[in-house]
Amino acid sequence: MGVLQDVAGPLLEGFSTLGLASQIGIATAAFLVVAVVLNVLKQVLFKNPNEPPMVFHWFPIIGSTITYGMDPPKFFDENRKKHGDCFTFILLGKKTTVYVGPKGNDFILNGKIRDVNAEDIYTVLTTPVFGKDVVYDCPNAKLMEQKRFMKVALTTEAFRSYVPIISDEVTSYLKRTPDFKGQSGVVNICPKMAQITIFTASHALQGKEIRDQFDEKLADLYHDLDMGFSPINFMLHWAPLPWNNRRDHAQRTVAKIYMDTIQRRRARGETAQDIMYHLMNSSYKNGTKVPDHEVAHMMIALLMAGQHSSSSTSSWIMVRLASRPDVMEALYQEQIDNLGKDLPPLKYEDLAKLPLNQAIVKETLRLHAPIHSIMRAVKSPMPVPGTKYVIPTDHVLLAAPGVSASDEQYFPQPDKWEPARWQKDHPLAPTIIRNEEIEEEEEKIDYGYGLVSKGSASPYLPFGAGRHRCIGEQFANVQLQTITAEIVRAFKFRNVDGSDKVIGTDYASLFSRPLEPANIYWERRN
Ligand code: HEM
Repeated sequence: MGVLQDVAGPLLEGFSTLGLASQIGIATAAFLVVAVVLNVLKQVLFKNPNEPPMVFHWFPIIGSTITYGMDPPKFFDENRKKHGDCFTFILLGKKTTVYVGPKGNDFILNGKIRDVNAEDIYTVLTTPVFGKDVVYDCPNAKLMEQKRFMKVALTTEAFRSYVPIISDEVTSYLKRTPDFKGQSGVVNICPKMAQITIFTASHALQGKEIRDQFDEKLADLYHDLDMGFSPINFMLHWAPLPWNNRRDHAQRTVAKIYMDTIQRRRARGETAQDIMYHLMNSSYKNGTKVPDHEVAHMMIALLMAGQHSSSSTSSWIMVRLASRPDVMEALYQEQIDNLGKDLPPLKYEDLAKLPLNQAIVKETLRLHAPIHSIMRAVKSPMPVPGTKYVIPTDHVLLAAPGVSASDEQYFPQPDKWEPARWQKDHPLAPTIIRNEEIEEEEEKIDYGYGLVSKGSASPYLPFGAGRHRCIGEQFANVQLQTITAEIVRAFKFRNVDGSDKVIGTDYASLFSRPLEPANIYWERRN
C-alpha cells in the first residue's frame, strides 16, 4: 500500500498541474489501455467451451470489423484455417458467428423459423428503400406469399417475351452510347453494365411505360434509393442525413409513380400479363386483395433486388472475358455453330443451345457471388449438430456460401475462372457434377412460393437456399446470358495491356463488384 501511494501520489500531483486538454488526452488514453487490457483478458481467461472460438481482436466493439470489411473472403479463409468452419467475430459490437461449408450453409439458410430470422437484420436497410408492409416489413408468412405472387409472373412464357426485349435494349444501348462510338476504344465497364442492367430489367419486368421513364427522372431517383443500401445505414438508417433525406424523398416519389401507373392501368382495363398485372390481381390466403401501395413497394423491391446482383455479375463477366479473349472467341464460335452463320435475332430457346454461354454465368457466380455474407438473427439457442456448441440468442449468424464455392475439395484449381469446367468430362469439373446423383437426391421443400431445393448438400449456392432463396434466379440467367450473347456478337474484348490480369474486388458496398475503373479495350467485330 505504501509503495502504491509513493508511486501514485506524485503521478496524480503531476497530472493535476497539466492543462485541461492534456488531462482529457491522458484520461482517454488510459481508458483505452484499460479497455484493451480487459478485452484481451476476457478473451484469454473466459473462453466459453460451449460457444465457437472467438477471433482474437484488440479493441472491444470494433473487434474484427475492419479486417472483415476490407476483404471478407480473405477473412473467412484465414480464420477457417485457424478455427475450423465455425467461429465468432465481433462486427460493430455484435458477436457474429460464421459457419461455412455445406453444413454451415444448411444450418443457417435452412434454419427453422423459430430459430433464425432475416427481417430483424435487414429491415432497417430495406424498409426505408422498398416501403412499408413488404419483404422484411411484414411477418415471414406474408413474405412467402409475396414471393409466390412475384414468382408466378416469372414463367417460361414470360421469359420467351423477355429475350427480344433484352436483346433490343443491349443493341440500341451499344449504338447510342458515346463510349462505344467508332471501331475500338477503352471503357470503364461497370457504369455501362449498371445502365444496361436497369434498362433491360425495367423494360422486361415492369413494361415499356416504366422503362421509358428511366431515360428521364427514374434513373436519378433509383440512384437516391440505392444510397440507402450503404453498410453505414445498418447503424445510421434513422439519421436525418442528406443521403437519407434523398432516399426518403425518392421512395415516396417512385412509389407514387407506380401507384399512378396502377390506377391508369386499372382505368384502361389493361390485361397485359406482366408482373404488375399479376400483383394487382393477387389476393392473400385470407382473401385480402394486395393493396396498391404494396404492389408499388414490391415493384421497387423486385427491381432493387435484381439490380445490384445482376449488374455486378455482368460487370465481372465482361472483366473476365477481357482477361480471356480465347473464351470470348469460343463463345462467338458457339453461336455461329449452333445458331447459324448469319446469327439470327436471339430467342429464348437459343439460350439452351449455348452451353458455354450458360457456363460463363455459372462460373462467374462461383468466384464472384455478389452477396458475400448472408445474415440471420438468432431467436432461440441453436445447438450445432456434431459439436458441443450452442449459439446463443445474442449472436448473429453469418453464412458465406462463396467459401465452399471456392474450396478445392469441391472445385479443382478453385481460383481459376474456367467456364468449360461445367462440362461433365472436363478435368476441372466440380465434384458436384461428377456426382450428379446429389442433385437428384436433393431434398425439395415448399415454403409457400413453390418447391425449392434445400441445397443442403451443395457447395454452390450463389442464389442462397431455404425460405429466403432467390426467386430471380431464372430471370437473372435469362438476362445475363442474353446480355453476354449480344455483347459477344458485337465486340472482341481484351485487357488494355493485353495481360490476363483481373482487377480486385470492391467490398465497400453491400454487394461485391469490380474495383473501378475496370477498364476494358473493346474492338467492334465487322
Ligand atoms: C434473394 C442472389 C438476382 C429477387 C436472394 C438471395 C441471394 C440472391 C443469395 C438470398 C438472400 C438471403 O438468404 O438473405 C441473387 C443473385 C442474383 C439475383 C446472385 C443475380 C445474379 C435477382 C433478381 C431478382 C431477385 C433478378 C428479381 C427479379 C430476389 C428476392 C429474394 C432474393 C425477391 C428473396 C429475399 C428473401 O426471401 O428474403 N437473391 N439474386 N434476385 N432475390 Fe436474388
